[in-house]
Amino acid sequence: MIKKNTFIITALLLGLIILTNFFQINFNRGVISQLINSNDSLSVVVKDLSDKKGFNVHVNMQALQRRQYLLNTSLREEKWELSKYHYERLTELFTQFERANYVTDGKNVSELTRELVDTPLKNISESINSNDKQSALDGSVSLERSCNACHSLSGMDYLNELNN
Ligand code: HEC
Repeated sequence: MIKKNTFIITALLLGLIILTNFFQINFNRGVISQLINSNDSLSVVVKDLSDKKGFNVHVNMQALQRRQYLLNTSLREEKWELSKYHYERLTELFTQFERANYVTDGKNVSELTRELVDTPLKNISESINSNDKQSALDGSVSLERSCNACHSLSGMDYLNELNN
């Protein structure tokens, strides 16, 4: 008899917990969609993120800038293995940008990526492989010119100040 009662009480409690969670989840969903609807720019950002599966151009660009800085530092210190590591990460970021098909002001700037960065990246990679510090740093300067060229072509010259 005791066992039967315990069973019924446990089942009731479990049912209650499941029910409360269900309402809580629905309530949260409601609040989130209300927030998104009440804020147009947030809704654009959320849509952009879901369309591009998590790609965010600003995060990508800041990561590029940071990675290039780290690459330059390791090159100056002639740390070749570390330089190789930073180089790989830098190329990954460019690949992400290219895949994201990023359009701004009606222009697909991602399409420009290969054209602009392939040669400097190749030069950097070759110079790292032959442990040539000066040539690798020169390659990095020419990469920076490509970064800046793309910003100018995208109508955002002012961004180049960030790279100085
Ligand atoms: C093929 C085009 C292209 C290339 C190459 C490129 N960028 Fe950008 N970058 C952009 C565009 C477009 C934006 C502005 C994004 C927007 O707001 O629409 C941007 C924005 C930025 C920003 C501002 C990010 C922020 O919101 O704080 C930085 C910093 C930046 N880029 C650094 C770099 C660096 C460093 C490189 C090279 C290592 C580089 N970019 C290469 C197109 C490019």
